[in-house]
Amino acid sequence: QELQLNLEQIEKGGYNHFMLKEIYEQPDAILDTFRGRLLINDAVIKLAGVEDNMKKFLAADRIIVVACGTSWHAGLVSEYIFEDLARIPVEVEYASEFRYRNPVITEKDVVIAISQSGETADTLAAIKLAKSRGAFVFGVCNVVGSSIARETDAGAYTHAGPEIGVASTKAFTTQITVLTLMALRLARAKGTISSSEFRHHLIELETIPDKVKEALESDSYVQTIANIYKDATNFLYLGRGFNFPVALEGALKLKEISYIHAEGYPAAEMKHGPIALIDEQMPVVVIATKKGHYEKVVSNIQEIKSRKGKIIGIVTKGDKNVRELADHVIEVPESLECLTPLLTTIPLQLLSYHIAVMLGKNVDQPRNLAKSVTVE
Ligand code: AGP
Repeated sequence: QELQLNLEQIEKGGYNHFMLKEIYEQPDAILDTFRGRLLINDAVIKLAGVEDNMKKFLAADRIIVVACGTSWHAGLVSEYIFEDLARIPVEVEYASEFRYRNPVITEKDVVIAISQSGETADTLAAIKLAKSRGAFVFGVCNVVGSSIARETDAGAYTHAGPEIGVASTKAFTTQITVLTLMALRLARAKGTISSSEFRHHLIELETIPDKVKEALESDSYVQTIANIYKDATNFLYLGRGFNFPVALEGALKLKEISYIHAEGYPAAEMKHGPIALIDEQMPVVVIATKKGHYEKVVSNIQEIKSRKGKIIGIVTKGDKNVRELADHVIEVPESLECLTPLLTTIPLQLLSYHIAVMLGKNVDQPRNLAKSVTVE
């Protein structure tokens, strides 16, 4: 028993929980995802699974992403990135709905299945269905040799290393990293991005691990915020564009480990319903990084403020406008808009972690949840 405990202690590498360890591993995990693929000196991205199947990708009428949970959120981020950079239409599907919907799939579809474990039953079934209808299926998995990795026609591993905490953290950011590399590679092949823009993206991408490290420095401040709001019974998470899926992911993280009800919304949807929920009891986490729809998100923040909601803003370093309105601001480094999800997600992971710890919850093994969902 004692030996077992010590072993676990060693595995946690000095952290109290696997989740925290995995949050902190993200700069290195993303570097591992880059390794051998992001060749900055040659201004090249190399992904064997994409190179070998370039014809199929270039002939694709659309990409259909199938996944569940956090992996589905990574798929949503990739929708924005593929469409923006590579101009390929993308549909993102819950694998569980897709598999039973009699979906229209043709041989000109490329299906991307995203899964940390590579064992999720619904995602596996969606892959089998897509294959039976002639689509080319590409896997983005973390676990090497997993069922999904074997069942797909080709793929790219995330190389995040083992993820033990049930709440997915480094798998999410490395999935987004792989999908961004894919989108950039395809954008270059299709000519939807100029070579100078491409090079600029690579240079920015290369800075992400250090910027994630910098984002992690907000940890003790996030802990202070967690202490203020840990007893709230509801949270809203808002974001727009590339950061709308991050809002969904932030809400999921809080729900699954702290058991606090949370909802993620595209910020502009607030006025179509959720705004009715806002009063002085409601903490609202708003991702309001510069660029994109910044101005519009600031006006959403004003609407929340006038209804006395408590505002936790996730902002670009040096931001002044949101600071004037929000109750708290957490800064992340500046980056290209399409890369901001890799940074804005960090404080949201930390917020859910600290709230769960303060509430005495079992962070690594939350009730009712399994690390891989191998049943329907
Ligand atoms: C994430 O924190 C969850 N535990 C869960 O949503 C998970 O992402 C989902 O079950 C999909 O798992 P997979 O990536 O292993 O397929």
